[in-house]
Amino acid sequence: MNKIITIAGQKGGAGKSATAVNLATSLALLEKKTLLVDCDLQGCSTQGCGINGLDYNCDIASVLSGRAKVTDAVVKTQVNYLDMIPAGFNLFQVAAKLAKNSENEKILRLFLRDVEDEYEYIIIDPPSSYGFLSVTAMTAADWLLVCMSVHHNSIEDFHCLLRTVKYIRTTHNVPLKIAGVLFNRCEAKEDIVSFIENQNFSDIKQMAYDTFIPEDDTIKRSIDLKIPVALHDMKSPAAEAYLSFAEEIHFFFNSRGVL
Ligand SMILES: Nc1ncnc2c1ncn2[C@@H]1O[C@H](COP(=O)(O)OP(=O)(O)O)[C@@H](O)[C@H]1O
Ligand SMILES: [Mg+2]
Repeated sequence: MNKIITIAGQKGGAGKSATAVNLATSLALLEKKTLLVDCDLQGCSTQGCGINGLDYNCDIASVLSGRAKVTDAVVKTQVNYLDMIPAGFNLFQVAAKLAKNSENEKILRLFLRDVEDEYEYIIIDPPSSYGFLSVTAMTAADWLLVCMSVHHNSIEDFHCLLRTVKYIRTTHNVPLKIAGVLFNRCEAKEDIVSFIENQNFSDIKQMAYDTFIPEDDTIKRSIDLKIPVALHDMKSPAAEAYLSFAEEIHFFFNSRGVL
């Protein structure tokens, strides 16, 4: 079933990991069984879910290197309905080896087949820079959710992303689609409207979700505390926004008959 979503957006700090953790948590709070896959050796979403090295024997590196089955690498989080596959720095060596053959960019997609029927959503958190791991994370997905900010050169990033999508579709024959654009770190809806109007790329307008994630220090504090924002302060603007966004994205997939 088409429910594997990779968070895209190449700029570091765009909020991919924050979105991966908090969207996955919010879907789980809506009782949608969700798997979060950390595909970044920095392990931001692993830490953001409060998972540390003592909590697991196998991780995404064990899976990609063929040393463990996906099912062995799945760990439970403190949120009901939310499991995750963690990542750590050992992914560096595994990725460097696998990167020698572009066919290997497809292996996560193949391995996830073992668990995809167990979850309503699988959310993948990729690294920021283009390379083997980000292409692997995108190739594993059926959908990309683009995380964008109104402050950076987001449109140039978006064009790079479209070229990568084209590469993945043609090289790996994967029907990768864009599920939409989530604006992060905004002060007000008007900022998004004027940003979109100032861009020479009208398609963004149709792709933008109604919900946006506000700039909110609660996100920073929840990252320091190594818990999703909803577990730190359910009433914070960011927690409420991610919950609304989970509802919006669930509606998006339901209305397309995907789930
Ligand atoms: N909406 C937000 N409000 C406040 N800070 C944010 C927000 N989104 C992200 N951040 C901050 O930006 C940093 C980078 O976010 P992160 O999700 O790790 O980006 P990426 O994964 O795209 O590199 C985080 O540590 C967090 O402190
Ligand atoms: Mg990240």
